This record gives sequence, structure tokens and C-alpha cells, in this order.
Amino acid sequence: MFEPEKFIQKQVHEVKEMVGDGKAVIAVSGGVDSTVCAVLTHRAVGDRLVAVFIDDGLMREGEAEQVINFFKARNMNARLVDAANEFFDALKGINEPEEKRKAFRNTFYAVLARVVRDENANCLVQGTIAADVLETVKGIKTQHNILEQIGIDPKGYGLTIVEPLKEIYKHEVREVARSLGVPPEFSERPPFPGPGLATRILGEVTPQRVDIERRATKIVETETSEIPSFQGMAVLMNDRATGIRDGKRAYGYMVVVRLVKSKDAITAEAVNVPWEVLKKIDKRITTEIPEVVHVLYSLTDKPPATIEFQ
Ligand code: XMP
Repeated sequence: MFEPEKFIQKQVHEVKEMVGDGKAVIAVSGGVDSTVCAVLTHRAVGDRLVAVFIDDGLMREGEAEQVINFFKARNMNARLVDAANEFFDALKGINEPEEKRKAFRNTFYAVLARVVRDENANCLVQGTIAADVLETVKGIKTQHNILEQIGIDPKGYGLTIVEPLKEIYKHEVREVARSLGVPPEFSERPPFPGPGLATRILGEVTPQRVDIERRATKIVETETSEIPSFQGMAVLMNDRATGIRDGKRAYGYMVVVRLVKSKDAITAEAVNVPWEVLKKIDKRITTEIPEVVHVLYSLTDKPPATIEFQ
């Protein structure tokens, strides 16, 4: 049986040893893994941890403020770094999903490396969990934050990588979160991909397309908040569809709505969302976001689909 208190004690001790008299940086996203990791590390080294939220311009509405406020309320050393333009520059003209991930990742680590240097840190703390290690090793997607596996040598940066959650699974991370007094907005937060809304934009990621995706996401999340699911999302398609605006033919965007049930993200099942809810989402998206003329619902389980569209 997993015992969160014991786990915390052991990890706090290990993190203390690893950081020594030095300083640590962690990039936080608001996800349960990085939040737990930051709170746990703070317990070990206090103010010698800097939690940095890199605003990549690809977050959901209000996300940056919510995350920073959470850490500040706990009297933790938290820093917001606005790097949106850098990310948009890196993503310019890229359509292919893995290329986008690569551009995202390179920019992310370039920004993070700057923060580490600025802060004079000797340790980089990462919220890697056991499932990340598994999926990356299997090569399903190159999505996870294990530096060595993506060819970045941390020693090249003179850094020690600290990964206190590497051996536990999501449900255990949530148990640790509750033990650490992390509130449900964070401990029970549905997974959200590292590259943020970029994962849900097929084709080029531009500020204008992110804005459409962000507004659609907000509508889907609001209208499905009462429906049990593992993850819910809006996906902006690359192709356009013929629609009618002001009585005239108009080519507009298409948005796919997807809600899935899953235990571990390895397999997933499309949720049977009530028709009235779907119609309300459709009405709101096509009214509040005039650029969108067509809303679809995704029916396919994983496999053969993946949870995300790319
Ligand atoms: P897929 O689409 O592979 O997603 O069925 C499985 C889980 O992983 C999340 N996901 C990502 N997480 N970076 C991440 O940090 C990524 O690039 C990425 N792609 C997918 C997805 O949201 C789901 O929970």
C-alpha cells in the first residue's frame, strides 16, 4: 500500500541532500505533477527553490495568474516569465505535430536555461512521473520531460536533475498532493499537455488561431464541468468549411469537441455527452466565435485514435 506521508518524508530528505547548499529551479504549469513537486521541494529547501511559470502564450484563460497566485499564497518564491513572443516565433510556419513539439521543447528549455542561469541554480527539479518514463521509452510520443532521452545533457548546463516523483503514478501523485494540502483545483486537475493549446491546433500555431482555440476551450470546459470525464477539449482543425455569415457564403474554421473517460491515458473511451449539452456548446462557439462555422463531436476511442489529435 502506498503511504503518502512516508513517501513525502523520504523525498524531502533526498531532495535536501541533492540540493545541498545550492539553489533549485522548477518550471511549474499548474498541473498536479509540477505543483506537487514544487510544494515538496519547497518543504525541503524553502526559499532556495524558485518556481517559475513560463508563459508560452499557449495557456488557457487566466491560467498564468491562477498558478502564480497559488504559489505566492503559500509564501513560495514564484516568478512569471513572459516568453509568448519567443514561442510564437519558434512555431511560425510549422504544421507537422512532432516538429511543433520539437520547436516548443527547444524554446522551453532555452527559456528555462536562461532562468536557471539568472538564478544561479545548481538543480533543476522536474515533475516526471512513472508513466512519463514508460511512454517515452515506448516511443509512443516524444512528449515527456526527460532530458537525457531527448538528447539534452544536463551536465552540459552544470545541472543536477531532481525528479522526486519518478517512481510513482498519477493516482499516487494525487494522494501526495492531498497530504501536502494542495487544494482540489490543482490536486484533481485534469491533465493538460505540456505544449498547451498548441497540441490542439492542427496546422500553424499563430496568436490569432490560439485566441480562437482558447475561447473554444473555455466554452467546452464551462459547459462540460458537470460531466465526469478524464479530459475534455476543443480542437481547432486546419481545413476550413463552407458556412454562412450575414447571408453570404463564408469559409470558416471547424472545431472538434472531444471528451474522454480514461484511467491512465493509455486507453480511453469517448464520453456519451447529452445532445442538449453538445447543442449548447455548438450554439455558443458559433455565436461567440464568428470565425468558426462548424462544430463536430469526436466519437472515437483510444485506440485507434489518441486522446489528443496530434
Ligand atoms: P495521447 O494523445 O497520446 O495522450 O493519447 C495521452 C495523454 O498525454 C497527454 N499528452 C501530452 N502531454 N505533452 C504532454 O505533456 C504532450 O506533447 C502531450 N501529448 C499528449 C494527453 O493530453 C493525454 O492526457
